[in-house]
Amino acid sequence: MFLVTGATGGLGRKIVHTLCEQEKTVRAFVRLTSRYAELEHRGAEIFIGDLRQERDIQKACQGVQYVISAHGATGSSDGDAQTLDYRANIDLIDAAKANGVQHFVFISVLGGDRGYEDSPTFKAKFAVERYLQNSGLSYTILRPSGFSSNLLPLAEQFSNTGIYLLIGDPHNRSSIVSTDDLARISVDAVFNEAAHNQIFAVGGPEILKRSDIPAIFGRIFDRDPIVVNPPLFLFDSVRTAVGIVNSRTQKALGTLRTLLANEFFCTSKEIERLESTFHIKMESLETFLRRYLSV
Ligand SMILES: NC(=O)c1ccc[n+]([C@@H]2O[C@H](COP(=O)([O-])OP(=O)(O)OC[C@H]3O[C@@H](n4cnc5c(N)ncnc54)[C@H](OP(=O)(O)O)[C@@H]3O)[C@@H](O)[C@H]2O)c1
Repeated sequence: MFLVTGATGGLGRKIVHTLCEQEKTVRAFVRLTSRYAELEHRGAEIFIGDLRQERDIQKACQGVQYVISAHGATGSSDGDAQTLDYRANIDLIDAAKANGVQHFVFISVLGGDRGYEDSPTFKAKFAVERYLQNSGLSYTILRPSGFSSNLLPLAEQFSNTGIYLLIGDPHNRSSIVSTDDLARISVDAVFNEAAHNQIFAVGGPEILKRSDIPAIFGRIFDRDPIVVNPPLFLFDSVRTAVGIVNSRTQKALGTLRTLLANEFFCTSKEIERLESTFHIKMESLETFLRRYLSV
């Protein structure tokens, strides 16, 4: 039995789909308010709980052999990094150990080891990585770059308006990863001994400048992109203003600022290692978008 946390998130949902396609038994950890009906239809066992509650985590881990931690204090989550990205993962690792779990896959983040002080999420991820490595559990730590599926709503907007908002340096590089490839790797890591007790940077096959993304959208939709490119200091001014009324949100925006201000790409050596370990050819961003947008 697999336990997948964040099962209704962008990545977690794909992981559950992959497991169901492979006819593996899977328990999807969801909230009562999550959109989980589709997972149930695919055959996943639904566990309703809250990752902020240690008791729920302990109960969810009973009878489980493999854990894939794919939740996060992102998207529709109302939790903070300390509670969800850090505490819930520590509780999950402890419960996995207590229940004799055979392998633990942790979705971290590319650059989590760079010590970005402004990002509560990056700090939490790195602390969890170290805790997992010292836990005695068999593990795989995946450090992905940005997910391709995040760009689908932006592509839809672009198709209507031709406008692309790019905050900060357009020359910053990234290796956007196909969310489908990452889901497959997350599952394969469990049964692939070469992936055990290893850390992998996970990205797409190409290093893209941020300005390449509107150009890809332009090619896909056959229209010239109008790139709106405010400088980073404008974001900083807004963040400071937000801080006057809500210091918690200001702190949480540190992760977005870290993402906007830095480069997150994998080297060709890292991609080679990934592809040879998992016997996979990583999909490019353009192929992913064309596949999902049917263009
Ligand atoms: N997105 C990226 O580009 C990116 C890049 C690198 C690393 N990552 C990491 O990859 C992982 C998956 O990211 P994602 O973008 O797929 O996440 P996401 O779409 O934002 O989903 C977050 C998931 O966590 C669940 N969750 C939040 N709070 C919860 C709680 N209190 N109890 C139970 N479940 C809770 C959410 O449930 P609901 O559906 O109920 O909200 C959702 O299923 C995260 O660890 C993230 O840090 C993401």
